[in-house]
Amino acid sequence: MVFEMYWRHFSIGFVIYLAVRIGHAFYKKFKTSTVDKTVTETKSVAPEFDSEDSGEELVPALPRDLQYVPLKFNEIPVEESLRKSRHFYELMNARRTVRHFSTRDVPKEVIYNLIKTAGTAPSGAHTEPWTFALVSSAETKKKIREIIEEEEEINYRKRMGNEWTTDIKPLRTNWIKEYLTDAPHLILVFKQTHSQKPNGTKKLHYYNEQSVVLAAGFLLAAIQNAGLVSLTSTPLNCGPALRALLNRPTSEKLSLLLPVGYPAKDCKVPDLERKSLDNIMLEY
Ligand SMILES: Cc1cc2nc3c(=O)[nH]c(=O)nc-3n(C[C@H](O)[C@H](O)[C@H](O)COP(=O)(O)O)c2cc1C
Repeated sequence: MVFEMYWRHFSIGFVIYLAVRIGHAFYKKFKTSTVDKTVTETKSVAPEFDSEDSGEELVPALPRDLQYVPLKFNEIPVEESLRKSRHFYELMNARRTVRHFSTRDVPKEVIYNLIKTAGTAPSGAHTEPWTFALVSSAETKKKIREIIEEEEEINYRKRMGNEWTTDIKPLRTNWIKEYLTDAPHLILVFKQTHSQKPNGTKKLHYYNEQSVVLAAGFLLAAIQNAGLVSLTSTPLNCGPALRALLNRPTSEKLSLLLPVGYPAKDCKVPDLERKSLDNIMLEY
């Protein structure tokens, strides 16, 4: 009886109720999806550095109370900047990759200075993610040569493919690497993907690849500056065997191997040209 009299009011009330419920449901869904999206976006900025949340309090890798000191900056006149920059360019432009080494020794003190220079490179969040393994013993150099020549023969014969071997043919390289035993020193540059904080938790090495390659660049410049020569090499597929030989942990990956010393007498290098400034620089 009451329903019959007021059915219109009941219907309107029901429609309003439904509209409110549906509206609320939509609002909730929109809110959740926005939050989800924010979480995903935050994570995807650098997913390679996402560590599992162990629930432990995070401790910064650098001291919390890191002190600041005045910058040591020796200002020089512009004319001197011009002279020094030109001189340094000429020095570096004379650097060449050398594939034939003299067996003449280089004092270790010199090599230590070169490696110290490499260690001055900038690194992601000052993680210094590098290990420079200096090999000077004839026995270890021989073992390294054996490992590399065995792999390189397979690389040249099977892995590298026609295009690659054709491209490097003019450089006259093959799997015989005499420089590995002739050069007085080998520096194997390892990149550390992570290490440990003083409290034992994992210390992520942000941008370890870029940092280590920068350090290798500093090393090459230091070698050139010291009147020595080197060969930038990346022994393909030899990383794990060389890491095992030198007892390095699996968190370290071989990045480069650089023999350091003097060139062999009458050493020849390919007559290569470098791109001009116009071809490597754009000005805006
Ligand atoms: C990442 C990298 C890997 C290289 N690997 C080798 C190598 O395995 N063997 C080699 O004889 N030269 C290697 N080189 C040297 C290049 O062939 C050489 O730098 C290039 O021909 C230019 O000559 P230059 O260094 O005298 O300017 C490598 C260079 C770089 C940067």
